[in-house]
Amino acid sequence: MKRILVTGATGHLGKGIVEALLNYVPPQQIVASARDPQQAAGLRKLGVEVRRADYNDYDSLLAALQGIDKLFLVSAVAFSDRLAQHGNVIRAAEAAGVRHIVYPSIQRREGVTAVIDGVTDSDIGTELLLRASGMAYTIVQHPLYAELIPLLVGERVVRKGLRLPAGEGRIPLTGRRDLAAASAAILAGDGHENTEISLNAGVSYSMRELADVYSELLAVPISYTAITPAQYVAERMADGLPASVAGFFGSWLAAIAAGAFDQPDPALERLLGTPATPLGEVLTAALE
Ligand SMILES: NC(=O)c1ccc[n+]([C@@H]2O[C@H](COP(=O)([O-])OP(=O)(O)OC[C@H]3O[C@@H](n4cnc5c(N)ncnc54)[C@H](OP(=O)(O)O)[C@@H]3O)[C@@H](O)[C@H]2O)c1
Repeated sequence: MKRILVTGATGHLGKGIVEALLNYVPPQQIVASARDPQQAAGLRKLGVEVRRADYNDYDSLLAALQGIDKLFLVSAVAFSDRLAQHGNVIRAAEAAGVRHIVYPSIQRREGVTAVIDGVTDSDIGTELLLRASGMAYTIVQHPLYAELIPLLVGERVVRKGLRLPAGEGRIPLTGRRDLAAASAAILAGDGHENTEISLNAGVSYSMRELADVYSELLAVPISYTAITPAQYVAERMADGLPASVAGFFGSWLAAIAAGAFDQPDPALERLLGTPATPLGEVLTAALE
């Protein structure tokens, strides 16, 4: 039996992929891995085998990956030693005989240089490791998760509107559930070997258009003002965010300004066979 393992099954993306995979294959074909398998007990109840694996523990990875044909490697958190952790997973997968590995990278429009702190460099390094490995790979490119927008705009949105260093940049904001469902379709389907697939809702939003979506959701007029990265960091620090977090958020918004995400693509809707979840719906759930 060809089995599919999804790492990070205690997190939003990994759990979403496992749940979506159940629409395509029987639970016996799915393995979920977690640092603490207790935290994935809900998936076990659905008939999915849960194995322990820590990206920092090569032996745990090698054991967890035995008998696995395809692997979805949920990327490690920003500002950890991501590349070393991903390298451990890739080496263990190769040693265990995994045939095909799928990795979510941050969308980087060709020709646009924009570095997201703690993320871009380790994504590029991971992609190089995958291409040099003996395994088939699929790199799925993700934009910023739409669910994270409320974090980036902050609670002052009602009082002050959207004040962001995103210029006139556009981004195909996409809900994590849709990204997870499209990844499940890739894992369950044939093909996709040695390809990059840009997964997103297929429609790009400017921050002015995002402000319009907010206006509708909050039933008050919300404006957009393009500010500088320094202004953004200062304003978010005044809201109580640590400088490092404000700077991290600012680097995502600067990447939007640079056009790094402005490449809407129909691949996700084709994989899902349905329209992507409307942005307003994703934001409403995130604001709740
Ligand atoms: N495109 C975007 O907008 C965006 C935004 C944020 C993050 N990301 C990236 O996408 C990834 C998935 O996002 P998410 O929302 O699902 O994040 P999440 O809910 O924080 O989940 C991260 C998962 O990775 C697991 N993990 C972290 N370090 C690990 C390690 N050393 N060994 C094994 N598992 C480990 C976590 O396990 P535990 O439960 O044990 O901690 C958790 O299951 C993130 O980790 C990050 O790299 C993308």
